[in-house]
Amino acid sequence: MKIAPSILTADFTDLKNEIKSISNADLIHIDIMDGNFVPNISFGPAINKQIAKISNIDLDVHLMVTNPLMWIDEFSLENVKYITVHYESQNFLESIKRIKENKKLVGITIKPKTKVSSILDVLKLADLVLVMSVEPGFGGQKFMPEMLDKVRELKRLREENNYNYQIEIDGGINNETIKLAKEAGVDISVVGSYLFNQTDRNKVIDNLK
Ligand code: DX5
Ligand code: ZN
Repeated sequence: MKIAPSILTADFTDLKNEIKSISNADLIHIDIMDGNFVPNISFGPAINKQIAKISNIDLDVHLMVTNPLMWIDEFSLENVKYITVHYESQNFLESIKRIKENKKLVGITIKPKTKVSSILDVLKLADLVLVMSVEPGFGGQKFMPEMLDKVRELKRLREENNYNYQIEIDGGINNETIKLAKEAGVDISVVGSYLFNQTDRNKVIDNLK
């Protein structure tokens, strides 16, 4: 299992050390919230640039914004690997196109109430499909186990159609729920509060892996 820590629950007054503490992570998950698409505001491209400067781990940018097309260029930094956009956001298809033009890997995500059947047509364009296992907006929420059906469906669709996206899950992952995620077929787990609320982060990441 690959681990992508979400720095949403990190101590932003000590971000350099917080990022150092997750040196064995596979990716760093960057949650961008605009206070409109979701009822919370996180941080913007300026902070993302600073994070990119101090880390050599690839970044996994999750755009929870009303119009991702406005922001994709600003987030297309050298060590950004994936840019993920919501099916429920504006200019969804144009955003996918822009991510590809910027030579970044395309992530597609759906909120808990959105079905996998809504994104069938675009799965062929995806390098990553992110299944939200909480309502987007906040760290520290409870895992929704029924979202694992989406993981199983995405795994089946990948096999049937020879797609090659990674399946990622985001929200409420801890040492117990990660086992269920693994069983269902998740490749990458985003982990926020469970990880940042503990002190020996490298050890927690190793155990989760
Ligand atoms: C929720 C974010 C998640 C969140 C994960 O809107 O997309 O990445 O920070 O945090 P935990 O692991 O605490 O649920
Ligand atoms: Zn996220």
